[in-house]
Amino acid sequence: MIGSGVIGLGVAWELARMGLRVTVLERDRRCGEGTSSAAAGMLAASVEAAAPGPFFELCRTSSGLWESWAGSLEEESGVDCEYDRCGLLRVTCSADLLPALEARRDWQLSEGIAVSETLSGPRLHEEVPGLSSEVVAGLLYPMEGQVHSHRVLEALEVACRRAGVRIETGFDVATLDLDGGGAGVVAADNRRLQADCLVLAAGPWSGRWLSELGVLVAVEPVRGQIAAVDQPLVSMRRIVFGDHGYVLQKRSGLTLVGATEEMVGFAGWPTLAAFNQLARVAGELVPSVAFAPYSHTWAGLRPYARGGPLLGRTPVSARVLLATAHHRNGILLAPVTAQLIARAVVEGADPDALLPFSPGRVA
Ligand code: GLY
Repeated sequence: MIGSGVIGLGVAWELARMGLRVTVLERDRRCGEGTSSAAAGMLAASVEAAAPGPFFELCRTSSGLWESWAGSLEEESGVDCEYDRCGLLRVTCSADLLPALEARRDWQLSEGIAVSETLSGPRLHEEVPGLSSEVVAGLLYPMEGQVHSHRVLEALEVACRRAGVRIETGFDVATLDLDGGGAGVVAADNRRLQADCLVLAAGPWSGRWLSELGVLVAVEPVRGQIAAVDQPLVSMRRIVFGDHGYVLQKRSGLTLVGATEEMVGFAGWPTLAAFNQLARVAGELVPSVAFAPYSHTWAGLRPYARGGPLLGRTPVSARVLLATAHHRNGILLAPVTAQLIARAVVEGADPDALLPFSPGRVA
């Protein structure tokens, strides 16, 4: 396994639970520092999938797995992931944008998604005290929720180690060694490892190996910045998701305002420009958040590929699989990715549910 984010550790844990010997290689000194620990932790398929189809099904399946996944993780690690079906209020400040939200609700209802009628005025403010008066309407998704991404990573790392997974940090994979049909890696310091099977889950950093694996789809970094304020005395149960960003509160009271989407290559630092943008998002959705004690801002790089995640065997080698390009949805999609990729490894063939996300696709 290359990569120790929520996807890499998730797949490793599933494989170890199925009795396989697993080694996770991580370039950094700590697990999950690349992308996963920067995530807000939303489980929000209804706002992330724009249309019915395979991506929506993948999100929905994973969302349904989260409760038992979080339960098993807690049982095996002793770490509480702060799994919470807190509900999400999708709001808009523009009456012109409401028809699009309602059209989305129509197909979601026909797919069996729990979503309210269009709410306005006092009904909205009952759901989120402190909601901005600029908000004109909203839809409540009562089954959407969140986890704490740092806790999830901590839980996965402990659960992996307890299940016998070897985690090698500081292992910077320089090249793949596929000679003679093998599945090996060579580190920058020349250490070599061979395996029966190799899973690449290196997020936006997976891109550098794709062409030699015959993958035609590029994986590109998309920077996301989040700002946090401390609001321990204000309770905001629902996630508020607007036209330009979202506000959500963690159990501690830390309240997150996210997130930018910036194509700036591997420039993984936070910027003043984004700080301004996030302050506007807070003001537009829950103005008190913009005046609460500021805590900190961070940035992460999401792995984006046209056509969605890249999951399954690569064209050049059946022994090398991809589990990457989850873009905004790595945390949401971790359980389903872990289960399907682990099955692909153990069964020697990609399950049908992975076919729309094949690394062998054309675009
Ligand atoms: N999942 C939300 C984001 O990436 O900002």
